[in-house]
Order: sequence, then structure tokens, then C-alpha cells
Amino acid sequence: MSGHTEMTLVNEDGVRIDGRTADQHRPVHIEAGVLSNADGSAYLEIGKNKVLAAVYGPRECHPRHLQDPTKAIIQCKYNMQSFSVSDRKRPGPDRRSIEISKIIAEALERVVLTELYPRASIDVYIEILQANAGTRCAGLTAAAVALADAGIPMRDLVPSIAVGKADGHVLLDLNKEEDNYGEADVPVGIMPSTDEIVLLQMDGDMTREEFDTAIDMAFEACHELCDIQKAALKKRYDTGAVREGSE
Ligand code: CDP
Repeated sequence: MSGHTEMTLVNEDGVRIDGRTADQHRPVHIEAGVLSNADGSAYLEIGKNKVLAAVYGPRECHPRHLQDPTKAIIQCKYNMQSFSVSDRKRPGPDRRSIEISKIIAEALERVVLTELYPRASIDVYIEILQANAGTRCAGLTAAAVALADAGIPMRDLVPSIAVGKADGHVLLDLNKEEDNYGEADVPVGIMPSTDEIVLLQMDGDMTREEFDTAIDMAFEACHELCDIQKAALKKRYDTGAVREGSE
């Protein structure tokens, strides 16, 4: 988020370096149930981002001192693989991944009916296989599908996408160049049935008016993303039904 750049990120016709208009997100693909040893899983691509989410639980909570007698806790590990970025990332947790794990767990706590599973833990693993900005949103979107795939009771799904500003334009779903050289990055996650916000962060600066425009864009995109999440879950369920019937 340098705030100014020599690079042109949006041309005179309002077209971005990857050919999108301001309010277009990158192509999204979601597949549910991709790992057989996890209770639930999902694979998600948004543009060049590639993300895998695996869910285990509800299961006994370790370490035990974290147990809550009133509800399950959600433990999330967001991990960026060394090979996911162009400069090899040092393996293991760092401040950034600890922060992202925390905000994703907090977002998911809003939708999971944790009160049904006192003392238990629901463990969510997010692996970033390829990164191109917006990985926390991609991770959260994938994790919500993985939780649903695990059959864990939820109030809603959580779609998540970033909005921001680059070259003076409010943009949906920033890519890496727009994130690096742009003026603002605002990851948003919502519960689509009530439009409650479960994740909202902001890096950089924009005017109140720009922020309102950006949030409207994010909500519209989140509703679209939610349809893709649902379609992925439905596809998994439908395929299962056909297989069973044909055996
Ligand atoms: O991925 P997200 O936008 O949620 O988080 P960020 O901290 O704003 O990082 C933006 C992007 O910078 C990532 O998606 C990666 O493409 C890149 N990055 C990197 O190349 N090396 C890192 N150690 C961290 C981030």
C-alpha cells in the first residue's frame, strides 16, 4: 500500500491490468469435499489465488485449558506455503499468519452453532498454495464451505472478498499489483442472509464516499460468491446421490 505509483493500474477507459472493470471480481472456482481424510474440505481459486481448506471436528479440544464449558471453540491455522509467492516465503507462522488465523476464526465463530458442542474444538486449516492478494478472503470463503461440507450446523455461509482503491479508482477484488501499489485494501466478509459483517479490515485511506461505494461493491460480490459456495456444496451432494443410486 504505497499510496502512489509510477505504474498505471487503471487505464483511461477504466480497464485494469488484468482486463477487468472496476466492479468485476476475478474468476472463481470452488469445489467441496476434496480431501477424504478431513471431516470437511474445500478447494477454491479466485484469479491466481489457490486455497485449500480442511475442517476437523467437532472433536476433543487440545490443549485442554482452551476448552469452554459453554461452547465449542474454533481454532484456525492460516498458512502460506513457501512456494505460494514469487519470493520464497520463510516457512512457519509469522505475525501476519497469526493475525489472519485470528480474524478468520472470529468471523467463523459468528456463523457456527458452537453452543451445540461444549468443550469441543472445531479445527480449520487453510493452506495458501498460490497467492495473488486477497488470500485471507479466499481462505475464509473456502473455510465456510469446508465447515458446511463437514456437516457442522451453521447459521449461514460466509463469503468474503476485498475491495479497495488504486490509481484513484474504487476497485473490487484487488490483484497483487493493485494491492501492492494501490491506495487502500478493505477485506470484507458477511453473513449473506442478514447482511451482517463478520470481517472488516482496512489498510490505506479513502474518502467516506469511496468507502460507501466500495462496501456496496463488496456486498454485491459476496452475494454472488455465496451462490458459488452453495453451488459447490450442491454439486458435491448431487454427485453423491447419483453415485449411490447407480451402485
Ligand atoms: O492475501 P491478503 O491480501 O489477504 O493479505 P496481504 O497481507 O494484504 O498480502 C497481499 C499479498 O501479498 C498476498 O496475497 C501475497 O500475494 C503477497 N505476499 C507475499 O508475496 N509474501 C508474503 N510474505 C506475504 C504476502
